[in-house]
Amino acid sequence: MAHSAERPATAAEIVEAADIVDVVSEYVPLKRAGKDFKAPCPFHSETQPSFYVIPSKRMFYCHGCKAAGNAIQFVQRLLGIPFHEAARRVAQRYGLRYVGRGEPPGQVSVREKLCRVNAFAARFFAQVLSEAPEAAVARDYVARRGISSASVQAFGLGFAPADWHRLRDAAKKRFSEEELVAAGLLVPRETGAAYDRFRGRLMFPITNLEGEVVAFGARAIGDEEPKYLNSPESAVFAKGKTLYGLAQAREAIRRSGVAVVVEGYTDVIAAHQAGRANVLATLGTSLTADHVRALSRLAQRVIVAYDADSAGKGAVLRSTESLENSGLPVEVAVLPAGEDPDSLLRERGPSAFDAVVAEAVPLVHFAIDHIVASRASEGVAGRERAAEEIADLLAAIRKPVARSGYIAYAASRLAGSDPGRVASLERALGEQLRLSERKRLRAHSGAAQGESSRTVARPVDPRRDRGFVVESVSQGATAELRPAVVQAERVLLRSALADRGHAERIFRELPPDRFLRPVSREIARELQRAWASGAAVAGAEILSALSAAAAEEFGEVVLPGSIHEAEGLPLQQLDLVRDHWEEQRFRELRERVARIPPEEQRTSDDVREFMELVRRRHAGPRGRFSPADGG
Ligand code: UTP
Ligand code: MN
Repeated sequence: MAHSAERPATAAEIVEAADIVDVVSEYVPLKRAGKDFKAPCPFHSETQPSFYVIPSKRMFYCHGCKAAGNAIQFVQRLLGIPFHEAARRVAQRYGLRYVGRGEPPGQVSVREKLCRVNAFAARFFAQVLSEAPEAAVARDYVARRGISSASVQAFGLGFAPADWHRLRDAAKKRFSEEELVAAGLLVPRETGAAYDRFRGRLMFPITNLEGEVVAFGARAIGDEEPKYLNSPESAVFAKGKTLYGLAQAREAIRRSGVAVVVEGYTDVIAAHQAGRANVLATLGTSLTADHVRALSRLAQRVIVAYDADSAGKGAVLRSTESLENSGLPVEVAVLPAGEDPDSLLRERGPSAFDAVVAEAVPLVHFAIDHIVASRASEGVAGRERAAEEIADLLAAIRKPVARSGYIAYAASRLAGSDPGRVASLERALGEQLRLSERKRLRAHSGAAQGESSRTVARPVDPRRDRGFVVESVSQGATAELRPAVVQAERVLLRSALADRGHAERIFRELPPDRFLRPVSREIARELQRAWASGAAVAGAEILSALSAAAAEEFGEVVLPGSIHEAEGLPLQQLDLVRDHWEEQRFRELRERVARIPPEEQRTSDDVREFMELVRRRHAGPRGRFSPADGG
């Protein structure tokens, strides 16, 4: 794998090998100045360029703020990451691997080692498959399954010999027993030597996005149990976050914007072999919100194509809420009974698979259909029960706009063959939804103050929400918002309620999604919509359109104070909230940018937006709205 080809290098060697102009210009537009280059400084506020890159000295220097350093230090400072991480990033660009002293012993080197051990094992297994006489049985099996030699190559397939110590013996000169055990390749014994975990199996290396081998899936050649044996989880391998085929599918996903998730390793290989290269698989687990988040950097849509009779279908239904809130639209396609993508492709060809994928329906529709169908035989009581279940589901979804569409869809499904009932069912569902929201609100009333009924459904670990745009800005914000910001948002909302001109100006400068509290955001959206759709805005109308938590905020705080806010435009508050949003967005983007692989930086929208914010932060003192500028 690409990884193993990287040459180890110290920080000094990396600095020597790196083209600092190239590294810096990924972020800052450099202009030639003699034999050097210059630009406005990304580290302080200025309009005249005093930031210089001096290739002959392999350094940058700013005459204004005196920031200076080499290529690694530039990346370290700009992205706010530790030195060793910056070193690794720069190294990677130049085919090097950082082995500096600064590298902490913890996670980093463990990670590194695990990948190296796994890469070694992958090479070993692959070689056995291609050459060893004892692997004839595996080569036959591969051929029987119609896996081409190009696929064997592309997916790095291998064969683990049937003996107990073959990998251990092959690896012992290069790796310690502990390392092999940590990678799950050897199984330790109380007494005596550890033995090979995988024996007599066809090996499917599982890689991360970068193509580093992090684990294996191992299929029995005959009927032995279990059919598939996977590496245990490790510092580099978590089933719930890893997708089989991601590295191979990455380009096709990016090009098409669509990721198709199937259930099996062989399904992925069959799909790629048939030219459907945007296909990948979960690892015997259901699709998680973490998987979707991993895909959100590449895809705009995720389609889950599961076997009709599989446990996967049930699992998708159980996790509808977290998947729906995971940031990408998830759709479900169901395969014909008794088929998996591999068999479908072999028996009926690529077009049959395409047809299944084309029939994908939104996850929530799929879940609604399932609820309606499961209660279909229970008559009127069944329909009521179904409406409750649907309302509970929708109450957990944090997409107000999508929700109204879902209500309409659910009403039409519940109405069945009687379209005359749709309107009343829609109203009933709306009522039911409000009840469900109150229920949720009560159930979570211990949650952080200021959280709306919908946000409490979020995962507790804030890191899991990285990778989200506006959503996560507000996420981290809620708990730690300063009272002044909360107050400022309220003033802005009152002002936007009191006066159309104010509303237009406020939402132009601060779109509703940039309000920091979820309740404020919801109210802002409603206000914007209400002003856009008609004459005067009625408080009662807004109230009825809001979720329970937002309605409470609106009824008790915004509406009563609005009469006093009709005067001037609250410019200071506008600045305060906007600065706050930008600050959080900046931090969030900086973290994300630090995780984007170097080769993708140039094309990344995140990087572009991040640098735009860097410039804005330095664009001088606040004062974007001077008082004279006001309404
Ligand atoms: P399937 O049983 O559908 O197998 O499991 P498959 O992928 O179609 O495999 P073939 O075609 O019989 O070779 C789907 C996925 O579930 C996981 C594997 O990830 C597999 O690809 N699985 C299945 C296991 O982890 N362990 C098992 O014992 C079985
Ligand atoms: Mn199969």
